[in-house]
Amino acid sequence: MPAPIRFPTAAELPAELRVDASAYENRWLCDGQVRTWAGESMAIEAAVCVRDGDRVTRPVLGRVPALGEAEAMAALAAAKRAYDLGRGAWPRATMAERLKAVETFLAKLKPLRAEVVKLLMWEIGKPQGDAEKEFDRTVEYVRDTVHAVKDLDRQSSRFVIEQGVFGQIRRSPLGVVLCMGPYNYPLNETWTTLIPALIMGNTIVAKLPRFGQLLHLPIYSAFAESFPPGVVNFVSGDGRYISGPLMASGDVDVLAFIGSQRVGDLLKKSHPAPHRLRCVLGLGAKNTGIVLADADLDVAVREAVTGALSFSGQRCTALKLLLVERAVADEFTRRFADAVSALKVGLPWEPGVKLTALPEDGKCDYLAGLVAEATGKGARVVNANGGEWTGTYFHPAVLYPCDMSMRACLEEQFGPVVPIVPFDDEREAIDAVVASPFGQQAAIFGRDGERVGRLVDALVPQVSRINLNSQCQRGPDTFPFTGRKASAEGTLSVTDALRVFSIRTMVAARDDVANRALVASIVRGRTSSFVSTDFLF
Ligand code: G3H
Repeated sequence: MPAPIRFPTAAELPAELRVDASAYENRWLCDGQVRTWAGESMAIEAAVCVRDGDRVTRPVLGRVPALGEAEAMAALAAAKRAYDLGRGAWPRATMAERLKAVETFLAKLKPLRAEVVKLLMWEIGKPQGDAEKEFDRTVEYVRDTVHAVKDLDRQSSRFVIEQGVFGQIRRSPLGVVLCMGPYNYPLNETWTTLIPALIMGNTIVAKLPRFGQLLHLPIYSAFAESFPPGVVNFVSGDGRYISGPLMASGDVDVLAFIGSQRVGDLLKKSHPAPHRLRCVLGLGAKNTGIVLADADLDVAVREAVTGALSFSGQRCTALKLLLVERAVADEFTRRFADAVSALKVGLPWEPGVKLTALPEDGKCDYLAGLVAEATGKGARVVNANGGEWTGTYFHPAVLYPCDMSMRACLEEQFGPVVPIVPFDDEREAIDAVVASPFGQQAAIFGRDGERVGRLVDALVPQVSRINLNSQCQRGPDTFPFTGRKASAEGTLSVTDALRVFSIRTMVAARDDVANRALVASIVRGRTSSFVSTDFLF
């Protein structure tokens, strides 16, 4: 049976949905210049197929440069020059100057929203509402970061006195940051590290993700026109020739990477002086939802469906395993399958669509393999059309009853396959979370304070966020986003990111008359931008 989706023919596409990348394709950003690349390039294929008779194919949306080591090194050299061991104009700029550049950038970004949203829909198959949310949430993140940095600036403008020593403590930049975001939030998760790193005075080399590349290219001019040369550089191409050599150079001071453990490990290991390298990593996850017998099943089903299947399960925070107490497992599964059948399937730009095409090559084959292995071991696909696929569309497969030997229960599927495991004793649920190599989040659905409280305490040493009667998620972005075990290193949030990309630095003196007079003369004469009581409103 073909999956329940109908890809459009080229003739059916309205003009406003066609992509014309001729104005920005094959560009990269190095040393303040948007450069056009004439060398080898990569064709960017759409996640959404088009149909020609019975044949479905992925149209080419445009091309991005397949840069090599020489270009990666040129971008790194530009970032190093701009940082100049902390003596460059950008790291030495006042916070007010940096924030002015960010405001200029935001103003230039605004008119690009429609193009970026359209590319998010085509390149990674993100439904329109989610694509718009990704853009708007990112802009809001930048604005929140500006507010947070002003708070930080106000706090740092004060002197502290302790045990006869007085001093001023500020946060200083760390150097060159390599930013690498993931394909599922190519804009948001690249910028939630890039922007705070930039604001704190670091310089950046950003490497585009595997998918969701083209959408960055229209923005390069806004970066080039808003920040001094070399402060922000963007490269694209095969990681072996780009990120590997960048890390091996030893000139990356901070690695901000969101992606797989395998690549995260490779990158860290490539650095010749790991003790100098700071890392903030968002890696794999297998967030588990535990449904207790007394749970409000309407709530549990609603949250679990959104948690497991928004953006077709391609979120690091997605619920990737559901453990349901046996007394309600059949009923929960039946309602869950019905709710999945009610989700609208279609093209990303169609109103109300929740399920659409996947961008990864070979992903449908991989997901079908998980389903085949689970059904071979006794699970059933319990929803209508579950696991059917056509071109790049894979219809969600709800698998029940699963057991913890199945690959679908152990691997991070990052797609629309939902394994449901019935359990008798809550210790089985705890053991499954304890045994997992991942430790990002979990969700508990239940109403009995005693049981839920006990489960919370059992899960706290395993994950970094436990959601009660709610799906797992990163937001609000002011909350800490991190993980235990193999899921993360470091913490991101609006305020945490400012700390991750800076180091506390202080000027201190014995509290005596001469030192007070010295510091007063520095402040009054404005001879230092570090020792200063000025602050931003
Ligand atoms: O893919 C990981 C994202 O940070 C998830 O964010 O929970 O807001 O979808 P979200």
